[in-house]
Amino acid sequence: MASFPSSAAARPLTYPPFAKDFPHMLHGADYNPDQWQHMPEVLEEDMRMAKLAGVNSFSIGIFAWTALEPEEGRFTFEWLDRTMDVLAAAGMKAVLATPSGARPAWMAQKYPEVLRVDGERRRHLFGRRHNHCMTSPVYRQKCRRINTLLAERYASHPALMVWHISNEYGGHCHCPLCEQAFREWLQARYGTLEALNHAWWSAFWSHTITDWSQIESPSPIGEMGVHGLNLDWHRFTTHQTVDFMKNEIAPLREITPGVPVTTNMMGFFYDLDYWKFMPELDIASWDAYPEWGGPGGDMHHASYTAMIHDLNRSLKGGRPWMLMESTPSMVNWRGVNKLKRPGMHRLASLQAVAHGAETVQYFQWRKSRGSSEKFHGAVVDHVGHENTRVFRDVAEVGRDLARLDDVVGTSSQVEAALVMDWECRWAVDDAQGIRTPKGYAEDCHAHYKALWRNGIAADVISADGDFSPYRLVIAPMLYMVRPGVAERLDTFVREGGTLVLTYWSGVVDASDLCFLGGFPGPLRKLAGVWAEEIDALYEGETNPVEPVPGNALGLTGTYAARHLCEVVHLEGATALATYGGDFYAGRPALTVNRFGKGSVYYIAARLEDAFLVDLVQSVAREMDLRRPLPGHSAPLPEGVSLKTRTNGVDEFLFAMNFSASPQSIDLGATPHEDVLAGEGDGAVSGPLTGVVELPPLGVKVLRRKYVRA
Ligand code: GLA
Ligand code: ZN
Repeated sequence: MASFPSSAAARPLTYPPFAKDFPHMLHGADYNPDQWQHMPEVLEEDMRMAKLAGVNSFSIGIFAWTALEPEEGRFTFEWLDRTMDVLAAAGMKAVLATPSGARPAWMAQKYPEVLRVDGERRRHLFGRRHNHCMTSPVYRQKCRRINTLLAERYASHPALMVWHISNEYGGHCHCPLCEQAFREWLQARYGTLEALNHAWWSAFWSHTITDWSQIESPSPIGEMGVHGLNLDWHRFTTHQTVDFMKNEIAPLREITPGVPVTTNMMGFFYDLDYWKFMPELDIASWDAYPEWGGPGGDMHHASYTAMIHDLNRSLKGGRPWMLMESTPSMVNWRGVNKLKRPGMHRLASLQAVAHGAETVQYFQWRKSRGSSEKFHGAVVDHVGHENTRVFRDVAEVGRDLARLDDVVGTSSQVEAALVMDWECRWAVDDAQGIRTPKGYAEDCHAHYKALWRNGIAADVISADGDFSPYRLVIAPMLYMVRPGVAERLDTFVREGGTLVLTYWSGVVDASDLCFLGGFPGPLRKLAGVWAEEIDALYEGETNPVEPVPGNALGLTGTYAARHLCEVVHLEGATALATYGGDFYAGRPALTVNRFGKGSVYYIAARLEDAFLVDLVQSVAREMDLRRPLPGHSAPLPEGVSLKTRTNGVDEFLFAMNFSASPQSIDLGATPHEDVLAGEGDGAVSGPLTGVVELPPLGVKVLRRKYVRA
């Protein structure tokens, strides 16, 4: 057995609450009193119902620009003053938004440059939202002005708790201003055209750039096939969006230095590398809309959502985060918009808390009467009162959250990390060849799910992240290896870490140029293999993978390889499993390379989920990774997820059952206190030990003494 670093992540055991004067879980929703100004009684009614629902915050002003500035330079803050005052009087908090997510018609009319130009070079008309130019000096100025006024007006308002910057930044703008900014960004990145042409391999098809002014952003009526250009365009769009956001944040930092800042993100959202946003933000937050009851099954949605929750915790290095939006019932933008089944709202809400959230917030509090989101789920339906199933579900979550004050500020202690990297994904997807789709995000999820099934807590990090706090790092399809990554992985393994790599790793560098001299490029020595070729299989085609008898991991089953099968040579690694079919039968499909004090596993083929679950189980057992149920090293019962949070004294075990059948877990002899069981709930009094039942969609939060790993 290899030796391992003795302790896990040296990260704080506790964090301060988001607001010093509010050490509670936040329960809230997007709220638009600006839509109801003609019915002033609505605000009062909403405050009455908020109390009943245990809702203690509203996110306001998100799309309220016209209500705040109906004509250029004329400001009407009175309705917002009233809302803020009413919130404060009720002891509630405001997550106050800057309104840049949608702009007034007068602005678009007077200053068309605020509107976006698409890839086909068409300037869009006024309409919808989330579609402004990121570069326009006019728009930046207008945002700065309104943000300044908001900050000045509410700086010392007792309701102000968090700044909600804009809304779901996203998309691209190809206007002349953005094009010019792109050229300047490229000039700063490359310095010379020679360097740019090399990175873009532009001699191919005679696409050499001889003057900076020839550069155009990728376009369906122009260039789409230069991978380096596409990659740089993604990077630039991220850069320009962050730059736009910095302009929004600057006056807030100056006027309200103590108020934390966040922007609501969208998970593994394609357009933007969220890691680049983090230095500007105090809190990570995201809008989660899992397709419960939809194709793929709830276990799939539960583990995917868990992965994104963990990403949000990891984005700020382990800090608690905000579930900025979720629906209390259904959404309105899928083909089929299912209701949440009884129990699912509570389970999904507490799942976020289990993974480090300290808010459960909804889109939306009250359904609008008109326009495109009038049928989106809300706490308050068109019927207008609290006697609805959804309202009762929300109120139940309100009661639960009120019992979780002691969880506020607790940390998630993890020993494993999954590498899920935006640039890698962009490059993988852009590559032509092998097979389509490549499945980068799906691979990340498959590996995460194997950790989830085994109850192994994990962070989700970028390839630029710090590997040293972890004992196990899984980096699926690490196709792009940027400078420094291989060196840091090398150190990580040398010092005792365990690394899991897969097929199609170490293929291109930061410019999307293939490594010469054999794949996996700079990871070749570490992996101890040379990947000579990669075979693609049709959907439904498989190749059996058979463990080598007596292999070090004790694997025994036969597993199906699909989609991608790499043909590798051993260069120091040992085969643990081999292909059973095709002309590469007998060649290694899974290898291990003992390297320094650590180990590197290389999975040469895309293997079925059962293999990944078994692999994680064996590796975790070999490494003695920390599990949520001490002494229990088998995968958890189907659909069960166990997560812990701790303050160093107590540990909170969140036990969740996403399956449709009752499941049970064995707590052993350790006494656990049921935190959510309140008086009148018919709850068991006294500590719980031994076998505990989890009904379908059931969830428990259990407190026990924390034992350091
Ligand atoms: C997003 C937006 C909200 C709303 C919801 C609907 O998350 O931020 O304004 O449109 O989607 O699901
Ligand atoms: Zn633009």
